[in-house]
Amino acid sequence: MGQMSARVLALAGLLAFLAPAFKAQSAKNIDMQPFGKTPDGHEVSLYTLKNQSGAEVKIINYGGTITSIKVKDRHGKFDDVVLGFDNLDGYVSKTNKSYFGALIGRYANRIAHGTFVLDGHQYHIPINDGSNALHGGLRGFDKVVWDAKDVSTARAPELELHYLSRDGEEGFPGNLSVTVRYSLTGQNDLRIDYSATTDKDTVLNLTNHSYFNLAGPGSGDILKHKLTLAADRFTPINSALTPTGAIESVAGTPLDFRKPTAIGARINQDDPQLKFAKGYDHNFVLNHSGEGPGLAATVEEPHSGRVLEVFTTQPGIQIYSGNFLNGSVRGIGGVYKFRSALCLETQHFPDSPNHPNFPSVVLRPGEQFHQTTIFRFSTE
Ligand code: BGC
Repeated sequence: MGQMSARVLALAGLLAFLAPAFKAQSAKNIDMQPFGKTPDGHEVSLYTLKNQSGAEVKIINYGGTITSIKVKDRHGKFDDVVLGFDNLDGYVSKTNKSYFGALIGRYANRIAHGTFVLDGHQYHIPINDGSNALHGGLRGFDKVVWDAKDVSTARAPELELHYLSRDGEEGFPGNLSVTVRYSLTGQNDLRIDYSATTDKDTVLNLTNHSYFNLAGPGSGDILKHKLTLAADRFTPINSALTPTGAIESVAGTPLDFRKPTAIGARINQDDPQLKFAKGYDHNFVLNHSGEGPGLAATVEEPHSGRVLEVFTTQPGIQIYSGNFLNGSVRGIGGVYKFRSALCLETQHFPDSPNHPNFPSVVLRPGEQFHQTTIFRFSTE
């Protein structure tokens, strides 16, 4: 046999060896199950993404919501590490004001007085949080049904969600076409890629609002979770929880998480920032350069040994210690009590349309919006 045909045979052998592995993965990438109907009659589906090590992420196309993330602890035991419901009623219920696991838009976080000026035009977004518009108004991206498509590759199960937000929806200008891709890699990275285009100048801030408790369902508060943030600065808030416009150093404040610190270590200190928010509910200014996803946060849960690292291309992260959870909502794992979960919302800064000194959130026709956030799960 010539050298050439020996090589061809070897290559064919290698391909034959690899093919079943690729096939097994791509054939059963994403399981889809019915998850009920919205009050206005839209069918909602539940999509399950699973990787080789058994980690599993469940997403519904109502709100593009993550309903469950199951990952191993240090002994190999799987637990759900996010708050959520096992039925659609929990998500559509008017008593659910917590945005559990949902995609947030068109403007994540607060816009003071629900108003801003863009290109000399004043826009009004419905007020739904004291004097502010929070998380996109009365019917934000968390309350709409997204189109879903399995776009899995041989490497990872991937779910693509699409939503067309019409010109004027919730007061925002421009038809905005938004695509969000969720993928779960073999390394236990839950990757979220956001992209969007518009046909008119608009403002845009997208995030995911998962509530993490790395100790698993019904395990109490998150005060012993240790948090590290790659943030030297933060945007202080006023009593309405909107930024004052200042950007300040965390040094010497209870918001200094540059070294691993338990969330509960300083949360009850007599500090005006903590008093305003009843705990942590602040935007941190990330140190990374902005080229590619940089490390933003690390959360370690000492009992289970679970570790969550958050990487992002975004300039900020909202750390919210579940201060408005009050035991009035029952979900998977029981009643959701005060500070029983932690949100790590990668984002542009709150109320940016009213603060020219913050990075711009304006998207114009012809521009492509792209942001990526990775939630990486491991154990120590
Ligand atoms: C906000 C909190 C709010 C929570 C649920 C977070 O993004 O920062 O103040 O209570 O979302 O609405």
